[in-house]
Amino acid sequence: MQTIRVHASKEYDICIGSGLLQQAGALTAAVKAPCAVMLVSDSHVEPLYADRVAASYEAAGFTVHRFTFPAGEASKNMHTLVQLLEALGAAGLTRSDLLVALGGGVTGDLTGFAAAVYQRGVDFVQIPTTLLAAVDSSVGGKTAVDLACGKNMAGCFWQPCLVVCDPDVFATLSPDIFADGMAEVIKYGVILDEPFFEWLEHCDAHAGAESIVARCCRLKKQVVEQDERDTGLRALLNFGHTIGHAIEKCSDFTISHGSGVAIGMVAMTRAAEAAGCAPAGLCERIAALCVRHDLPTAVNMPVQALCAAARSDKKRSTGGITVVVPQQPGRAVTRKLALEELDAWIAAGCAAEDENR
Ligand SMILES: NC(=O)c1ccc[n+]([C@@H]2O[C@H](COP(=O)([O-])OP(=O)(O)OC[C@H]3O[C@@H](n4cnc5c(N)ncnc54)[C@H](O)[C@@H]3O)[C@@H](O)[C@H]2O)c1
Ligand SMILES: [Zn+2]
Repeated sequence: MQTIRVHASKEYDICIGSGLLQQAGALTAAVKAPCAVMLVSDSHVEPLYADRVAASYEAAGFTVHRFTFPAGEASKNMHTLVQLLEALGAAGLTRSDLLVALGGGVTGDLTGFAAAVYQRGVDFVQIPTTLLAAVDSSVGGKTAVDLACGKNMAGCFWQPCLVVCDPDVFATLSPDIFADGMAEVIKYGVILDEPFFEWLEHCDAHAGAESIVARCCRLKKQVVEQDERDTGLRALLNFGHTIGHAIEKCSDFTISHGSGVAIGMVAMTRAAEAAGCAPAGLCERIAALCVRHDLPTAVNMPVQALCAAARSDKKRSTGGITVVVPQQPGRAVTRKLALEELDAWIAAGCAAEDENR
Protein backbone atom coordinates (compact mmCIF):
# COMPACT_ATOMS: atom_id res chain seq x y z
CA MET A 1 0.00 0.00 0.00
CA GLN A 2 1.19 3.51 -0.78
CA THR A 3 0.09 6.35 1.46
CA ILE A 4 0.14 9.99 0.38
CA ARG A 5 -0.57 12.65 2.99
CA VAL A 6 -2.41 15.75 1.83
CA HIS A 7 -1.90 18.92 3.86
CA ALA A 8 -4.90 21.03 2.89
CA SER A 9 -7.41 22.83 5.16
CA LYS A 10 -7.96 19.29 6.37
CA GLU A 11 -5.11 16.76 6.59
CA TYR A 12 -5.86 13.37 5.12
CA ASP A 13 -4.30 10.29 3.61
CA ILE A 14 -4.77 8.83 0.17
CA CYS A 15 -4.23 5.07 0.49
CA ILE A 16 -3.59 3.22 -2.76
CA GLY A 17 -3.19 -0.53 -3.12
CA SER A 18 -4.55 -3.75 -4.50
CA GLY A 19 -7.22 -5.30 -2.25
CA LEU A 20 -7.85 -2.15 -0.21
CA LEU A 21 -11.62 -2.28 -0.80
CA GLN A 22 -11.85 -4.97 1.88
CA GLN A 23 -9.81 -2.82 4.25
CA ALA A 24 -11.76 0.40 3.82
CA GLY A 25 -13.50 -0.05 7.19
CA ALA A 26 -10.27 -0.68 9.09
CA LEU A 27 -8.50 2.24 7.36
CA THR A 28 -11.42 4.51 8.23
CA ALA A 29 -11.49 3.31 11.84
CA ALA A 30 -7.92 4.62 12.15
CA VAL A 31 -9.14 8.19 11.55
CA LYS A 32 -12.72 8.06 12.80
CA ALA A 33 -14.37 6.28 15.72
CA PRO A 34 -17.02 3.76 14.61
CA CYS A 35 -20.30 5.55 13.84
CA ALA A 36 -23.20 5.40 11.40
CA VAL A 37 -22.19 5.40 7.73
CA MET A 38 -24.20 6.27 4.62
CA LEU A 39 -22.62 4.30 1.79
CA VAL A 40 -23.43 6.16 -1.43
CA SER A 41 -23.02 4.50 -4.82
CA ASP A 42 -24.67 4.41 -8.22
CA SER A 43 -26.70 1.65 -9.83
CA HIS A 44 -23.67 0.19 -11.68
CA VAL A 45 -21.22 0.21 -8.81
CA GLU A 46 -23.54 -0.85 -6.00
CA PRO A 47 -24.10 -4.43 -7.24
CA LEU A 48 -20.39 -4.83 -7.99
CA TYR A 49 -18.71 -3.53 -4.84
CA ALA A 50 -21.06 -2.21 -2.15
CA ASP A 51 -21.47 -5.51 -0.29
CA ARG A 52 -17.71 -5.87 0.06
CA VAL A 53 -17.29 -2.31 1.31
CA ALA A 54 -20.30 -2.51 3.65
CA ALA A 55 -18.95 -5.75 5.14
CA SER A 56 -15.56 -4.17 5.77
CA TYR A 57 -17.17 -1.20 7.58
CA GLU A 58 -19.39 -3.49 9.64
CA ALA A 59 -16.42 -5.63 10.59
CA ALA A 60 -14.71 -2.46 11.85
CA GLY A 61 -17.71 -1.58 14.04
CA PHE A 62 -19.60 0.89 11.83
CA THR A 63 -23.37 0.70 11.17
CA VAL A 64 -24.00 0.90 7.44
CA HIS A 65 -26.95 2.46 5.59
CA ARG A 66 -27.05 2.66 1.80
CA PHE A 67 -28.14 5.22 -0.78
CA THR A 68 -28.04 4.21 -4.43
CA PHE A 69 -28.94 6.45 -7.37
CA PRO A 70 -29.23 5.83 -11.14
CA ALA A 71 -25.75 5.83 -12.71
CA GLY A 72 -24.78 8.73 -14.95
CA GLU A 73 -24.07 12.45 -15.06
CA ALA A 74 -27.83 13.13 -15.37
CA SER A 75 -28.14 12.18 -11.69
CA LYS A 76 -25.58 14.78 -10.54
CA ASN A 77 -28.23 17.38 -9.78
CA MET A 78 -30.11 19.13 -6.99
CA HIS A 79 -32.88 16.56 -7.07
CA THR A 80 -30.57 13.64 -6.22
CA LEU A 81 -28.76 15.84 -3.70
CA VAL A 82 -32.02 16.52 -1.84
CA GLN A 83 -32.94 12.81 -1.97
CA LEU A 84 -29.57 11.96 -0.44
CA LEU A 85 -29.88 14.65 2.25
CA GLU A 86 -33.37 13.38 3.15
CA ALA A 87 -32.03 9.83 3.29
CA LEU A 88 -29.33 10.99 5.74
CA GLY A 89 -32.04 12.56 7.90
CA ALA A 90 -34.31 9.52 7.67
CA ALA A 91 -31.44 7.26 8.73
CA GLY A 92 -30.83 9.53 11.70
CA LEU A 93 -27.26 10.46 10.80
CA THR A 94 -25.78 13.09 13.11
CA ARG A 95 -22.94 15.54 12.73
CA SER A 96 -20.44 13.01 14.02
CA ASP A 97 -21.41 10.34 11.46
CA LEU A 98 -19.90 9.63 8.07
CA LEU A 99 -20.66 9.53 4.34
CA VAL A 100 -18.75 7.17 2.07
CA ALA A 101 -18.63 7.83 -1.68
CA LEU A 102 -18.09 4.54 -3.51
CA GLY A 103 -17.98 5.24 -7.24
CA GLY A 104 -16.78 7.53 -9.99
CA GLY A 105 -16.61 11.30 -10.08
CA VAL A 106 -20.38 11.68 -10.14
CA THR A 107 -20.74 9.80 -6.85
CA GLY A 108 -17.79 11.63 -5.30
CA ASP A 109 -18.97 15.11 -6.30
CA LEU A 110 -22.53 14.47 -5.14
CA THR A 111 -21.57 12.81 -1.87
CA GLY A 112 -18.96 15.45 -1.08
CA PHE A 113 -21.49 18.22 -1.59
CA ALA A 114 -24.04 16.44 0.61
CA ALA A 115 -21.37 15.95 3.30
CA ALA A 116 -20.50 19.64 3.14
CA VAL A 117 -24.04 20.85 3.70
CA TYR A 118 -25.70 18.16 5.83
CA GLN A 119 -25.97 19.70 9.29
CA ARG A 120 -23.38 22.26 8.12
CA GLY A 121 -20.74 19.65 7.44
CA VAL A 122 -19.94 16.03 8.21
CA ASP A 123 -16.95 13.85 7.40
CA PHE A 124 -16.75 11.83 4.23
CA VAL A 125 -14.50 9.19 2.69
CA GLN A 126 -13.79 8.86 -1.02
CA ILE A 127 -13.48 5.38 -2.50
CA PRO A 128 -12.95 6.13 -6.20
CA THR A 129 -13.82 3.33 -8.63
CA THR A 130 -13.02 4.97 -11.98
CA LEU A 131 -9.52 5.92 -13.08
CA LEU A 132 -10.72 9.51 -13.50
CA ALA A 133 -12.02 9.66 -9.94
CA ALA A 134 -8.84 8.05 -8.60
CA VAL A 135 -6.43 10.44 -10.30
CA ASP A 136 -8.52 13.58 -10.24
CA SER A 137 -11.94 14.09 -8.66
CA SER A 138 -11.42 12.23 -5.37
CA VAL A 139 -8.46 14.42 -4.40
CA GLY A 140 -8.62 18.13 -3.74
CA GLY A 141 -12.03 18.73 -2.22
CA LYS A 142 -14.02 20.17 -5.10
CA THR A 143 -17.65 19.06 -4.84
CA ALA A 144 -20.58 20.03 -7.04
CA VAL A 145 -23.79 19.23 -8.82
CA ASP A 146 -24.95 20.40 -12.24
CA LEU A 147 -27.66 23.02 -12.81
CA ALA A 148 -29.75 23.54 -15.95
CA CYS A 149 -27.41 26.45 -16.78
CA GLY A 150 -24.27 24.31 -16.71
CA LYS A 151 -22.07 21.60 -15.25
CA ASN A 152 -20.75 21.93 -11.68
CA MET A 153 -22.53 25.27 -11.27
CA ALA A 154 -23.40 24.69 -7.60
CA GLY A 155 -20.86 23.30 -5.20
CA CYS A 156 -18.22 24.03 -2.62
CA PHE A 157 -14.80 23.06 -1.34
CA TRP A 158 -15.00 20.24 1.20
CA GLN A 159 -12.08 17.91 1.77
CA PRO A 160 -12.56 14.20 2.51
CA CYS A 161 -11.07 12.75 5.68
CA LEU A 162 -9.64 9.76 3.78
CA VAL A 163 -9.30 8.48 0.22
CA VAL A 164 -9.05 4.72 -0.35
CA CYS A 165 -8.17 3.57 -3.86
CA ASP A 166 -8.10 -0.10 -4.87
CA PRO A 167 -6.95 -0.27 -8.51
CA ASP A 168 -8.38 -3.81 -8.82
CA VAL A 169 -11.80 -2.21 -9.36
CA PHE A 170 -10.66 -0.80 -12.72
CA ALA A 171 -10.95 -4.36 -14.09
CA THR A 172 -14.71 -3.88 -14.50
CA LEU A 173 -14.49 -0.49 -16.25
CA SER A 174 -15.39 -0.38 -19.94
CA PRO A 175 -12.42 0.49 -22.19
CA ASP A 176 -13.99 3.89 -22.95
CA ILE A 177 -14.29 4.86 -19.32
CA PHE A 178 -10.74 3.72 -18.57
CA ALA A 179 -9.52 5.79 -21.55
CA ASP A 180 -11.41 8.82 -20.21
CA GLY A 181 -9.29 8.69 -17.08
CA MET A 182 -6.14 8.39 -19.19
CA ALA A 183 -6.85 11.84 -20.66
CA GLU A 184 -6.41 13.35 -17.19
CA VAL A 185 -3.33 11.19 -16.61
CA ILE A 186 -1.72 12.47 -19.83
CA LYS A 187 -2.63 15.99 -18.75
CA TYR A 188 -0.53 15.64 -15.58
CA GLY A 189 2.45 14.48 -17.64
CA VAL A 190 2.19 17.41 -20.05
CA ILE A 191 1.81 20.14 -17.45
CA LEU A 192 3.90 18.91 -14.54
CA ASP A 193 6.07 15.84 -15.05
CA GLU A 194 8.33 15.16 -18.03
CA PRO A 195 9.66 11.73 -16.88
CA PHE A 196 6.06 10.62 -16.34
CA PHE A 197 5.12 11.89 -19.82
CA GLU A 198 7.97 9.85 -21.30
CA TRP A 199 6.99 6.77 -19.30
CA LEU A 200 3.42 7.06 -20.60
CA GLU A 201 4.83 6.90 -24.13
CA HIS A 202 5.66 3.23 -23.65
CA CYS A 203 3.89 1.94 -20.53
CA ASP A 204 1.07 -0.58 -20.19
CA ALA A 205 -1.53 1.59 -18.42
CA HIS A 206 -3.64 -1.30 -17.13
CA ALA A 207 -0.71 -3.15 -15.61
CA GLY A 208 0.71 0.10 -14.25
CA ALA A 209 -2.56 1.50 -12.89
CA GLU A 210 -1.41 1.57 -9.26
CA SER A 211 1.74 3.57 -10.04
CA ILE A 212 -0.24 5.85 -12.34
CA VAL A 213 -2.75 6.65 -9.60
CA ALA A 214 -0.01 7.24 -7.03
CA ARG A 215 1.99 9.48 -9.37
CA CYS A 216 -1.04 11.58 -10.35
CA CYS A 217 -2.27 11.90 -6.75
CA ARG A 218 1.19 13.16 -5.70
CA LEU A 219 1.12 15.74 -8.47
CA LYS A 220 -2.43 16.87 -7.69
CA LYS A 221 -1.66 17.00 -3.96
CA GLN A 222 1.25 19.37 -4.59
CA VAL A 223 -0.94 21.69 -6.62
CA VAL A 224 -3.86 21.57 -4.16
CA GLU A 225 -1.58 22.24 -1.18
CA GLN A 226 -0.39 25.43 -2.82
CA ASP A 227 -3.74 26.59 -4.16
CA GLU A 228 -6.60 24.76 -2.49
CA ARG A 229 -9.30 27.24 -3.51
CA ASP A 230 -8.31 27.53 -7.16
CA THR A 231 -7.15 31.11 -7.32
CA GLY A 232 -3.85 30.53 -9.14
CA LEU A 233 -1.69 27.46 -9.71
CA ARG A 234 -4.61 25.02 -9.67
CA ALA A 235 -5.73 26.55 -12.97
CA LEU A 236 -2.96 24.52 -14.63
CA LEU A 237 -5.11 21.43 -14.11
CA ASN A 238 -7.53 22.88 -16.64
CA PHE A 239 -5.15 22.20 -19.53
CA GLY A 240 -7.27 21.14 -22.52
CA HIS A 241 -10.48 21.78 -20.60
CA THR A 242 -11.68 25.07 -22.15
CA ILE A 243 -11.91 23.54 -25.62
CA GLY A 244 -12.76 20.15 -24.08
CA HIS A 245 -15.80 21.52 -22.27
CA ALA A 246 -16.88 23.33 -25.45
CA ILE A 247 -16.67 20.05 -27.39
CA GLU A 248 -18.68 18.20 -24.73
CA LYS A 249 -21.32 20.92 -24.81
CA CYS A 250 -21.54 21.15 -28.61
CA SER A 251 -21.92 17.37 -28.83
CA ASP A 252 -24.80 17.54 -26.36
CA PHE A 253 -22.57 15.54 -24.03
CA THR A 254 -22.41 12.55 -26.39
CA ILE A 255 -18.62 13.09 -26.45
CA SER A 256 -17.22 12.15 -23.06
CA HIS A 257 -15.20 14.44 -20.82
CA GLY A 258 -11.96 12.51 -21.38
CA SER A 259 -12.39 12.54 -25.15
CA GLY A 260 -13.11 16.28 -25.06
CA VAL A 261 -10.04 16.92 -22.92
CA ALA A 262 -7.82 14.84 -25.23
CA ILE A 263 -8.99 16.76 -28.30
CA GLY A 264 -8.74 20.02 -26.34
CA MET A 265 -5.13 19.34 -25.26
CA VAL A 266 -4.11 18.60 -28.84
CA ALA A 267 -5.93 21.68 -30.20
CA MET A 268 -4.47 24.01 -27.54
CA THR A 269 -0.97 22.73 -28.21
CA ARG A 270 -1.39 23.15 -31.95
CA ALA A 271 -2.57 26.74 -31.39
CA ALA A 272 0.34 27.37 -29.01
CA GLU A 273 2.79 26.09 -31.63
CA ALA A 274 1.19 28.32 -34.27
CA ALA A 275 1.53 31.32 -31.92
CA GLY A 276 5.20 30.49 -31.28
CA CYS A 277 4.55 29.68 -27.59
CA ALA A 278 5.29 25.96 -27.81
CA PRO A 279 8.08 24.11 -29.60
CA ALA A 280 7.30 22.52 -32.95
CA GLY A 281 6.51 18.83 -32.61
CA LEU A 282 4.95 18.98 -29.14
CA CYS A 283 1.40 18.75 -30.53
CA GLU A 284 2.32 15.67 -32.53
CA ARG A 285 3.83 14.03 -29.45
CA ILE A 286 0.77 14.70 -27.30
CA ALA A 287 -1.53 13.48 -30.09
CA ALA A 288 0.49 10.26 -30.38
CA LEU A 289 0.21 9.74 -26.64
CA CYS A 290 -3.58 10.19 -26.80
CA VAL A 291 -3.88 7.73 -29.68
CA ARG A 292 -1.69 5.25 -27.81
CA HIS A 293 -4.13 5.37 -24.89
CA ASP A 294 -7.26 4.99 -27.05
CA LEU A 295 -8.29 8.65 -27.07
CA PRO A 296 -9.44 10.76 -30.03
CA THR A 297 -7.42 13.77 -31.15
CA ALA A 298 -9.85 15.53 -33.48
CA VAL A 299 -13.53 16.17 -33.95
CA ASN A 300 -15.53 17.55 -36.81
CA MET A 301 -17.38 20.55 -35.35
CA PRO A 302 -17.92 24.09 -36.59
CA VAL A 303 -15.27 26.36 -35.10
CA GLN A 304 -17.85 29.10 -34.52
CA ALA A 305 -19.98 26.86 -32.33
CA LEU A 306 -16.92 25.83 -30.32
CA CYS A 307 -15.93 29.48 -29.83
CA ALA A 308 -19.43 30.39 -28.63
CA ALA A 309 -19.46 27.46 -26.20
CA ALA A 310 -15.95 28.27 -24.92
CA ARG A 311 -16.95 31.86 -24.23
CA SER A 312 -19.54 30.65 -21.74
CA ASP A 313 -16.98 28.58 -19.80
CA LYS A 314 -17.17 28.84 -16.02
CA LYS A 315 -13.48 29.77 -15.93
CA ARG A 316 -14.19 33.02 -17.74
CA SER A 317 -13.70 36.19 -15.74
CA THR A 318 -14.11 39.85 -16.57
CA GLY A 319 -12.29 40.69 -19.74
CA GLY A 320 -11.14 37.25 -20.76
CA ILE A 321 -10.46 33.64 -20.04
CA THR A 322 -7.40 31.95 -18.59
CA VAL A 323 -6.06 29.12 -20.73
CA VAL A 324 -3.17 26.74 -20.14
CA VAL A 325 -0.33 26.79 -22.60
CA PRO A 326 2.13 23.86 -22.68
CA GLN A 327 5.76 24.85 -23.13
CA GLN A 328 7.47 21.47 -23.19
CA PRO A 329 6.60 18.07 -21.72
CA GLY A 330 6.30 18.70 -17.98
CA ARG A 331 5.93 22.45 -18.12
CA ALA A 332 2.96 24.72 -18.79
CA VAL A 333 1.91 28.26 -17.98
CA THR A 334 -1.41 30.03 -17.69
CA ARG A 335 -2.21 32.90 -19.93
CA LYS A 336 -5.16 35.23 -20.01
CA LEU A 337 -6.66 35.64 -23.45
CA ALA A 338 -9.19 38.28 -24.49
CA LEU A 339 -12.29 36.62 -25.95
CA GLU A 340 -11.31 37.55 -29.52
CA GLU A 341 -7.88 35.99 -28.95
CA LEU A 342 -9.53 32.84 -27.62
CA ASP A 343 -11.54 32.58 -30.85
CA ALA A 344 -8.32 32.88 -32.84
CA TRP A 345 -6.63 30.17 -30.74
CA ILE A 346 -9.57 27.81 -31.15
CA ALA A 347 -9.60 28.46 -34.89
CA ALA A 348 -5.84 27.80 -35.11
CA GLY A 349 -6.14 24.70 -32.94
CA CYS A 350 -9.09 23.17 -34.74
CA ALA A 351 -8.77 24.52 -38.28
CA ALA A 352 -5.44 22.78 -38.83
CA GLU A 353 -7.23 19.59 -37.89
CA ASP A 354 -9.41 19.93 -40.98
CA GLU A 355 -6.30 20.19 -43.15
CA ASN A 356 -4.90 17.06 -41.53
CA ARG A 357 -8.02 15.01 -42.10
N1 LIG B 1 -14.33 17.26 -8.10
C1 LIG B 1 -13.39 17.33 -9.03
O1 LIG B 1 -12.30 17.87 -8.80
C2 LIG B 1 -13.63 16.72 -10.36
C3 LIG B 1 -12.57 16.56 -11.26
C4 LIG B 1 -12.82 15.93 -12.46
C5 LIG B 1 -14.09 15.46 -12.76
N2 LIG B 1 -15.11 15.64 -11.87
C6 LIG B 1 -16.46 15.14 -12.15
O2 LIG B 1 -16.40 13.72 -12.27
C7 LIG B 1 -17.46 13.26 -13.10
C8 LIG B 1 -16.92 12.25 -14.06
O3 LIG B 1 -16.39 11.17 -13.34
P1 LIG B 1 -16.44 9.68 -13.91
O4 LIG B 1 -15.91 9.66 -15.28
O5 LIG B 1 -15.82 8.84 -12.86
O6 LIG B 1 -18.02 9.44 -14.06
P2 LIG B 1 -19.07 8.47 -13.35
O7 LIG B 1 -19.02 8.57 -11.88
O8 LIG B 1 -20.38 8.69 -13.99
O9 LIG B 1 -18.56 7.01 -13.76
C9 LIG B 1 -18.57 6.64 -15.12
C10 LIG B 1 -19.36 5.34 -15.30
O10 LIG B 1 -18.59 4.26 -14.80
C11 LIG B 1 -19.38 3.46 -13.93
N3 LIG B 1 -18.44 2.87 -12.98
C12 LIG B 1 -17.78 3.50 -11.98
N4 LIG B 1 -16.88 2.67 -11.44
C13 LIG B 1 -17.00 1.48 -12.06
C14 LIG B 1 -16.32 0.23 -11.96
N5 LIG B 1 -15.30 0.07 -11.13
N6 LIG B 1 -16.71 -0.76 -12.76
C15 LIG B 1 -17.71 -0.59 -13.67
N7 LIG B 1 -18.36 0.58 -13.84
C16 LIG B 1 -18.00 1.60 -13.04
C17 LIG B 1 -20.37 4.42 -13.35
O11 LIG B 1 -21.50 3.74 -12.87
C18 LIG B 1 -20.69 5.29 -14.56
O12 LIG B 1 -21.63 4.64 -15.38
C19 LIG B 1 -18.04 14.49 -13.76
O13 LIG B 1 -19.28 14.79 -13.17
C20 LIG B 1 -17.03 15.59 -13.47
O14 LIG B 1 -17.61 16.86 -13.39
C21 LIG B 1 -14.90 16.25 -10.70
ZN1 LIG C 1 -11.20 16.94 -16.32
